[in-house]
Amino acid sequence: MTHRSRKTQAIINLSALKNNYNQIASLAPQSKTIAVIKANAYGHGAIEIAKSLNSLVPAFAVAFIDEAIVLRNAGITLPILILEGPLDKEDFTLATQHDFWLMLHNNEQISWLTQHPNYKEKLWLKIDTGMNRLGFTPKHAKKILAKLTNEQKKHLVICSHFSSADELDNPKTPAQIVCLKTLSEKYSCQLSLSNSAGIINWPQSHADFNRLGLALYGANPTPIKNMPMKLTPAMTLQSTIIALRKLKLGDSVGYGEAWRAKQASVIATIAIGYADGYPRNSPAGTPVFINNQLAPLAGRVSMDMITVDVTNIANVSVGDVVELWGENLSVEVVAEHMNTINYELLTRVSARVPKVYINK
Ligand SMILES: Cc1ncc(COP(=O)(O)O)c(C=O)c1O
Repeated sequence: MTHRSRKTQAIINLSALKNNYNQIASLAPQSKTIAVIKANAYGHGAIEIAKSLNSLVPAFAVAFIDEAIVLRNAGITLPILILEGPLDKEDFTLATQHDFWLMLHNNEQISWLTQHPNYKEKLWLKIDTGMNRLGFTPKHAKKILAKLTNEQKKHLVICSHFSSADELDNPKTPAQIVCLKTLSEKYSCQLSLSNSAGIINWPQSHADFNRLGLALYGANPTPIKNMPMKLTPAMTLQSTIIALRKLKLGDSVGYGEAWRAKQASVIATIAIGYADGYPRNSPAGTPVFINNQLAPLAGRVSMDMITVDVTNIANVSVGDVVELWGENLSVEVVAEHMNTINYELLTRVSARVPKVYINK
């Protein structure tokens, strides 16, 4: 094993991942629940996550072709849905070679499709039901369908993406559901609507395929504090204390002297920084978990280190393990302090943080 003196690592709990998948998929027993593993499986490592879920899931989804080719090259043979579809003509050719499922959302993609009348994989027609980001208008659907061969129509899935499924009283979601269901009934196509928040909050959105991302990794996609099941964070990001120092009243910490001791204080320096994906603009007070207690960030985040006020933590020593988020400190709580969301924190953990897979 390679020597590794710096103990910063992301521990990825594969049994938690599988357990999360099974629990959420069981909320929608009539649906096929696709595992969304774009952005390197939300920072968890796409190849390892795909291998771990391979026998549980019907298909995977990624954002673009390159992410899917990495999986094929690693031996993943299950269907892989490309959520943004082919971005140029060459992408389309690659998709035919690798048997990808394509989500199609613009006229150019449809023109490439008409040049591949024998394309036999599942096609997903993306309808814009109000996100106003990608997709054809519901009115446009008829015109597009007319361009597909009968064989292609047989494999068609009509799909859309929710803009506000995490807001439980937002009327937009039921409106999106009605719009898409009407369309899929009219054209007798299969249907896909739900992301994590849709699966959990909107049972009426469950359809032939659901697309499960964030919650698979044990992160909470909704403001509900009590989820209908107990999800376990699949990632625990941790590091260790590499230095401790005592400060006097008025002493400053870190770049720009941005934090000053209001009393005699003890500061722990921890081996993780913005180059690891811990955001530089994290404010003082953002919690970390040390020795079963929460301690607040003090001073600016550096490239390789953060500094934390451990004045009130008993028995701290150099070498102690520090959890930045994970099983003991939820990524949602940390994200709230940093004025961001769990999705962003998980996906920005950088390549220099080794991933250690447990409970295979
Ligand atoms: C089209 C599409 N479907 C499904 C998902 C999965 O969403 P979530 O991670 O909220 O489950 C995403 C993620 O952004 C997406 O873009």
